[in-house]
Amino acid sequence: MKALEAYNLKKTYHQSNQIVEAVKNVSLTIFPGEVLAFLGPNGAGKTTSIKMMTGLIQPDAGWIRIAGSDPHRNPAALQKMGAVLEGNRNVYWRLTPEENLEYFGVLKGLSHREARKSGIALLERFGLLHKRRTPVQQLSRGMQQKLAFAVALVHQPLLLLLDEPTLGLDVEATEDVKILVREIAASGCAILLTTHQLAIAEELSDKIAILQKGKILAEAPTQELIRQFSSTAYKIEMEVPLDKARIAELEKVGADIEDGKIIYVSQLELLYKVFDIVKKLPLNYVRKEQFDLTEIFLQIIREGRMSNV
Ligand SMILES: Nc1ncnc2c1ncn2[C@@H]1O[C@H](COP(=O)(O)OP(=O)(O)O)[C@@H](O)[C@H]1O
Ligand SMILES: [Mg+2]
Repeated sequence: MKALEAYNLKKTYHQSNQIVEAVKNVSLTIFPGEVLAFLGPNGAGKTTSIKMMTGLIQPDAGWIRIAGSDPHRNPAALQKMGAVLEGNRNVYWRLTPEENLEYFGVLKGLSHREARKSGIALLERFGLLHKRRTPVQQLSRGMQQKLAFAVALVHQPLLLLLDEPTLGLDVEATEDVKILVREIAASGCAILLTTHQLAIAEELSDKIAILQKGKILAEAPTQELIRQFSSTAYKIEMEVPLDKARIAELEKVGADIEDGKIIYVSQLELLYKVFDIVKKLPLNYVRKEQFDLTEIFLQIIREGRMSNV
């Protein structure tokens, strides 16, 4: 079963006399236990998409299914979903962690007893049990964020939506959140994660969707995305500049030359043609260019690349 399916979501905001097409075309699928990183520059429409998935705002077009049911028609669908939204408004600051968990647990359909029991178990798991009666406003930002995760999980959802969950956290709290995300996915929950920290996306996600101006530009398994880009570039540095004849020959087969002595090659087969041409000349090194997600992301965004990579 799919934990989340979103199809052709659209949302336009009308603000005074301005029209903003925040989300134009977003389709996503996440299976249980999968982590999807939802990446895109500021204003791409990530938060708007998540708000539609949480049932907070109605899409203008398209539909959403959470474990098969529509959150905009069937409130029971919302009980299968938990969310940690952008910023720090996910919990009540005047209440204690215990009270927050009970309150939100009951709101998500648990009995008082169940909410208490589940809440205590989560506080214990997240190392917050000793703070259960301290008002949230007195907790550190990292603890508040862990509590927001606990609140989102109190009813054991199948799907967890995380909008910039590490924003404003220090290094240690960020590490804690990363561990939590891994554990939660390992327990079978599906996770949609937006983040600006691409290293986190690379580390945590099984697949990646890149959003720009309300549209998905690329969607692929994380490793595949990285592999496809990394296998497309080899760099050869010659010890001395190449002669004109060889440069012309290299360009003819499709290699790019920089400074007369660095050769870029986009495919493995080409690499051997290039070796033939430069045979016996001294070379410094041959290297496979390893792209990281940041470079891939920037390249896709720059090219505005459509369809699947
Ligand atoms: N409530 C709103 N009213 C009007 N415009 C909005 C509102 N929320 C977001 N927008 C606009 O919609 C676009 C997408 O915003 P958002 O979904 O927050 O993007 P992201 O989370 O990717 O940064 C932006 O241009 C933003 O200014
Ligand atoms: Mg946002």
